This record gives sequence, structure tokens and C-alpha cells, in this order.
Amino acid sequence: AFKKRVFSGIQPSGGLTLGNYLGAIKRFVQMQDEDYETIYCMVDLHAITVWQDPAALRRQTRELAAGFIASGIDPAKSILFNQSQVAEHAQLGWIFNCVARMGWMQRMTQWKDKAGKNSQNASLGLFAYPSLMAADILTYHATHVPVGEDQKQHLELTRDIAIKFNNDYGVDFFPVTEPVIEGAGTRVMSLRDGSKKMSKSDPSDASRINMTDDADTLAKKIRKAKTDPDALPSEAEGLEGRAEARNLVNIYAGLADMSVEAVLRDVGGKAFSEFKPLLAELAVAKLAPISSEMARLMENEAEIDALLHTGADAARAIAAPILEKTYDIIGM
Ligand code: ADP
Ligand code: NA
Repeated sequence: AFKKRVFSGIQPSGGLTLGNYLGAIKRFVQMQDEDYETIYCMVDLHAITVWQDPAALRRQTRELAAGFIASGIDPAKSILFNQSQVAEHAQLGWIFNCVARMGWMQRMTQWKDKAGKNSQNASLGLFAYPSLMAADILTYHATHVPVGEDQKQHLELTRDIAIKFNNDYGVDFFPVTEPVIEGAGTRVMSLRDGSKKMSKSDPSDASRINMTDDADTLAKKIRKAKTDPDALPSEAEGLEGRAEARNLVNIYAGLADMSVEAVLRDVGGKAFSEFKPLLAELAVAKLAPISSEMARLMENEAEIDALLHTGADAARAIAAPILEKTYDIIGM
């Protein structure tokens, strides 16, 4: 039996979005008070699978750490660190490159989306990304991984890698990890296109809510968010085939900690022109305290760096013996 342990990460490839907050961080915060050991990571090695400006990467990594802490991740309850500070991730990642099959990787829809038509010009790292992600999780023997819906396929691959390693070497060494994909915020969509997920890497800033957006910017983005001409339904079935309408209701539910059904009981029948200001007001109430706390934390970079060093030491203390045992199993 494996100890109940959570691992999850976020890329410092841009500022935090509302999608990251509702789909991932909110759940990370809850899990640190549940029956798990919790480990959270700025996955900078993943960020460089597409080119990052070095100064921007350094700033975004600290800002992401500030975002975690401002959202409620408590370094006394959770291990928080940068992926590149714990070499075991990359070391186990190599081993998993030798376990994972080309065919498995080629089926990854995120690879196909991100590499696009010009896949011959994508980095080898972008292709191998899900194998490194398996290493991130399994170098801690993590049993549970809270993520947004977009990561479901990568977590299935993590399970396949653990199972194949265990079978290939006749051991019961790596746990078969459970994804934790729960709540209204697991798939927050772009404000401009209800078929695309909200992402920090979307070139359109109007498509997303950034955790650092000020109240006016937030209100403007929500006012301009794409919707349809119909009023809000009073039951969830009335959102079928209405991706943009459903997205705004989901966002409201996620921010208010309510079910979609409960939100629709309150706002069913309203026009979007009435609902959007309510959503903007809720978003400001929930996000403004986080962004002002982030700004305050960013004034003391040395303190953030010191916290992350302490976190990396704690992470390494778990990862190093697991890597050593892995080498031993393989014959090294
Ligand atoms: P991004 O796609 O913004 O670059 P990451 O790949 O770093 O974000 O993902 C970090 C976490 O945030 C993952 O658990 C991912 O599933 C979650 N996440 C990212 N975008 C969304 C979204 N639009 N809705 C819900 N969860 C999301
Ligand atoms: Na992602």
C-alpha cells in the first residue's frame, strides 16, 4: 500500500489564469487540509519545451510561487518548489523515455494541438513532455494528482508507464496514480471561443482572465465575453449546445463554490447583460485579494527564493531514495 500523496504542477510559461485557479489551485489548497501529503511544483522544465525568454521565465516562476501562496498554499503544510531544483525529475524522465512507446506519445492530443502542422519543427522535449510529467508524479510515488480535464490523457499515460515498468521488471514499485478531476472549474473555456480552453499561452489576452487583472480589466473582459442572445436557463439542460453560456455559469459556480444547478436557480431567466455584472463583481471579490497578496509577496523576492530552496530540499529527500531504488531495479 502506498501512502496517500498528492503531486501536481503548473508551468511558469506566463501569468496564472482563472482556468489554472479553478481547475487546479483551488483543489490543491483544499487537499492540503485533507488526508494527503501535498507536493506542488513550478514545472519550469516543462515550460522550456517551447522557447522562453530567460528573464521572463525567472520572473514568472517567482510570480507563480507567489500565486500559489496567495491562493492559500501554505509552505508549512505543502512542499512547494521549482522542478529544475530537483534533478530526480529529469533523471527519472529519461528512464521513462525508455519505457514509454513512440505510439503512446503520438496519440497525445495535446502534442498534436501544440505541435500543430509544423510538428517537424517542434522540440523533442515537447514530444517527451508527458513522459517527464509521469516522472514528476512517480518520483514521489504520488497516488493522487489534482488537475484540469485537459490533463486526463497525460495521466492515463502516467498509469501506463507505471504499469509497464512494474511488468517489465516484475516489481510492484510504482503506484498506479488516480487523477482528481472534480468540480465546476475542471474545464474553463476561452472567453472568446467556447471550443478552446482558457490558457496562459493563448495569444489573445481578451480570451482569458489573468489572476493579476485589475477590476476594470476583469469587468471589461467579462462584458465582452462571447455569449448567445438567449436568457439564462433555470436548469442545466438549458445550457446544452451553448458552450459560451455554460462556461460563464461554470465560472460563476467555481468562484462561488456553488453547483451549476444552484447558480441557475438564482439567475435563471436573467439576460446576460444582467448576469455579466454579477459575475464581474464576484470575480473581483474573489480574485482581488489574491492579486494584491501576490504583489505584496513579489516585493520580497529573496523570501520567495528561500522558501523554494527549503521546498526543494524536502522534495529531494523523498525523490532521491525512490530514484536510487529505481536504478537498482533496472540493474544500475
Ligand atoms: P496552461 O494551459 O494555462 O499553460 P498548465 O499546462 O500549466 O496551464 O496547467 C496547469 C494546471 O491548470 C493543470 O492542472 C491544468 O489541467 C489546469 N488548467 C489549465 N488550463 C485550464 C482550464 N482552462 N480549465 C481548467 N483547468 C485548467
Ligand atoms: Na495544460
